[in-house]
Amino acid sequence: MSAAHAGGEVEVLHWWTSGGEAKAAAALKEKLQAKGDTWKDFAVAGGGGDSAMTVLKSRVVSGNAPAAAQIKGPSIQEWAQEGVLANIDDVAKAENWDSLLPKIVADGMKYKGNYVAAPVNVHRVNWVWANSEVLKKAGVSKVPTTWPEFFAAADALKKAGVIPVAHGGQSWQDFTTFEAVALGVGGVEFYKKALIKLDQPTLTSAKMEEVLNTFKKIKGYTDKNAAGRDWNLATSMVIRGEAGFQFMGDWAKGEFLAAGKTPGKDFQCFAAPGTAAAYTFNIDSFAMFKVKGADKAQAQKDLASAIMSVDFQELFNLNKGSIPVRLGMDLSKFDDCAKQSAKDFQADAKSGSLLPSIAHGMAVPSAIQGAMQDVVSQFWNTDAMTAKDAMAKLASAAKTK
Ligand code: GAL
Repeated sequence: MSAAHAGGEVEVLHWWTSGGEAKAAAALKEKLQAKGDTWKDFAVAGGGGDSAMTVLKSRVVSGNAPAAAQIKGPSIQEWAQEGVLANIDDVAKAENWDSLLPKIVADGMKYKGNYVAAPVNVHRVNWVWANSEVLKKAGVSKVPTTWPEFFAAADALKKAGVIPVAHGGQSWQDFTTFEAVALGVGGVEFYKKALIKLDQPTLTSAKMEEVLNTFKKIKGYTDKNAAGRDWNLATSMVIRGEAGFQFMGDWAKGEFLAAGKTPGKDFQCFAAPGTAAAYTFNIDSFAMFKVKGADKAQAQKDLASAIMSVDFQELFNLNKGSIPVRLGMDLSKFDDCAKQSAKDFQADAKSGSLLPSIAHGMAVPSAIQGAMQDVVSQFWNTDAMTAKDAMAKLASAAKTK
């Protein structure tokens, strides 16, 4: 894996096109090119990656897979089962990845015991982002930790003439908010039963009804132009002070930082109401596809090695808003939101409240995720649909094969 080889090309599919995301992706490109290889950018815009995954499918079906693609969670196994992923065990063994990653993460990167993907980060999803100045002006003296406090703060923001919640009405964003509410209102055991184990009675329980109604209540605090809005534009509304809060994973922090804002001063990060003692995680990773040609295979391994390096994990995550997934990293350059995330990640791993994000493809097969996501968005967008209707549909979506 030295810099002294002829160099090959790696085509990399990703969806990191917003300000903070693009800065983070550039760190990976530089790192790869420093090894003498060429980065062929294959960016497909669209937060959450739905469009990127559609494009990926058509490329693989036509026998023209990229060398590396941003694929996460159970989807890694789904792609590996198709027989299209490359074995990168020699890099992983040489660099002893098993000792550098939490076991649960390493296991997700392997298929039948061999590494087929490399992880870049840990994003926490159950965050809310707030504009400090806007909260102050509205007389909100502390960030809300319960749902009643949250709605009281949202009312105060409304009164002060700002949009309480910046939202982008896209399915994955609706679902990101929904799972935060599910965890906050229902708690850890409810989240596990309903959204990971897909337990039918829990999906149709009185608790789920309360979750759905709380989720829908948030809509009343969003603006009329939310439909279809990209997540980073919603973040900009908070950055500019047009809106008070945004429910979003910590890639939103990348946008605040890229805009020159300081956490704790210009903006606040806090766990979604009722979720401070739990952590929904979203681990970005690159799965490697089988490529033709020794130079391409070598370049692909160089990329894998770059991803796991200490300096990449630091630089990338400083820009991305996430924390390194590699164990034992020095976090002294990271801000307080990242330090809180790292602390909670460890504590929640011990207490059993480290939870895969369903909205970000960590918890269930992609077909089930897609079906449940559709129901949640339909409920968000259809005033005539009751929580009971939505529960019945969610329960049947959870049975998608
Ligand atoms: C997530 C992804 C993050 C972030 C976000 C918005 O699914 O894991 O890295 O980029 O989408 O695009």
